[in-house]
Amino acid sequence: MLIQEQDSQAYRYQSGFGNEFSSEALPGALPVGQNSPQKVPYGLYTELLSGTAFTVARSEARRTWLYRIRPSASHGQYQRMDRQLASQLGAVTPNRLRWNPMPIPQVATDFVDGLMCVAANSEPGQPGGASIYRYAANQSMERVFFNADGELLVVPQQGTLKLVTELGVLVVAPLEIAVIPRGMRFRVELIGENASGYVCENHGCALRLPDLGPIGSNGLANPRDFLAPVAQFEERDEPVQLVQKFLGELWATELDHSPLDVVAWHGNNVPYKYDLRRFNTIGTVSFDHPDPSIFTVLTSPSAVHGMANIDFVIFPPRWMVAENTFRPPWFHRNLMNEFMGLIAGAYDAKADGFSPGGASLHNCMSAHGPDHVSTEQAINAELKPHKIENTMAFMFETGQVLRPTRQALESSQLQADYDACWAGLTKTFDKNEK
Ligand SMILES: [Fe+2]
Repeated sequence: MLIQEQDSQAYRYQSGFGNEFSSEALPGALPVGQNSPQKVPYGLYTELLSGTAFTVARSEARRTWLYRIRPSASHGQYQRMDRQLASQLGAVTPNRLRWNPMPIPQVATDFVDGLMCVAANSEPGQPGGASIYRYAANQSMERVFFNADGELLVVPQQGTLKLVTELGVLVVAPLEIAVIPRGMRFRVELIGENASGYVCENHGCALRLPDLGPIGSNGLANPRDFLAPVAQFEERDEPVQLVQKFLGELWATELDHSPLDVVAWHGNNVPYKYDLRRFNTIGTVSFDHPDPSIFTVLTSPSAVHGMANIDFVIFPPRWMVAENTFRPPWFHRNLMNEFMGLIAGAYDAKADGFSPGGASLHNCMSAHGPDHVSTEQAINAELKPHKIENTMAFMFETGQVLRPTRQALESSQLQADYDACWAGLTKTFDKNEK
């Protein structure tokens, strides 16, 4: 059974993860007992949006049946656009990289124009991997967009987004995230003047909740807190530009109607949102701390069992109670590759230089950890129960090395002196004092 939720914006949602959702904006619009009847109520057309191959295991299958005013096939030729997204990969570098927040553009810029690819680990046409973007926009989209290259995980940092999708509306504020399936048409409107944040484009298996193992049947992100929209359609017979990203390039066509014209739908290939403040954080109540995988919100598995294509991991407010423990993240070198962002507040492993809206990249085997100020404080701290508040950092952790784009390497936000934050780690070793 689906629970209807209502948020402060008065948009209605259905809750659950991976459910067979259904919704109709007009009573009786959704065919009953079959997917594709000869005549659909209200003279609608039937269309199937498949997010996976037809023959994958049932547990993997994502598809949604759409009942719409016009079929999506009703369009003319796409033309390659003059303005392309900056996504050319730059020089290979094993160096640790960190960027300041992206400025809001001075010229009119919508969500699509405001996307800048900062790193990628595969070509968009490959069946796995990811591309990572930051966005900064100051204008609502009038056009409609879809991404043929993968699903989009949107992480707002500043400004609330209204995602008007084929299946309905999601309003997503900072500290919330949204996921939009591959191929789904949507328009991003700004509620407020400016918006900026992060996007992970997932070329691999769809994001899903991680298995919980010994944690049991509850905890971390709970399925009921994921919200899918209810049906809402536009009956607008006027020119609308439809833009798609296809193998990394932008192509556009002009429609004579809004493509956001789905009156009813059912399926599990749906956009959804999640409030990160609902994450049930689990940590140590004795000593040491668990691996950061304990903070996984969503995961996209790879062909290697247990190794993610992408993990979306958060570092939320939480109590620190571990006894006799170096409490910040340990110094480490990982097989996995870590792109980090900060949504709000401060991150406990960095005293400064990592501001909300900033980003860092620590690739395979790059050595990193707390900066020298945080390290000294943690070694000398009197360990009492302590709550880390006013924070929300996140990580897109990938199985394949992320290669920064040329634009990201040449951008003025790239910090020239990131290595310096570890330079003050002086030698404290004394063989005469245990
Ligand atoms: Fe790390």
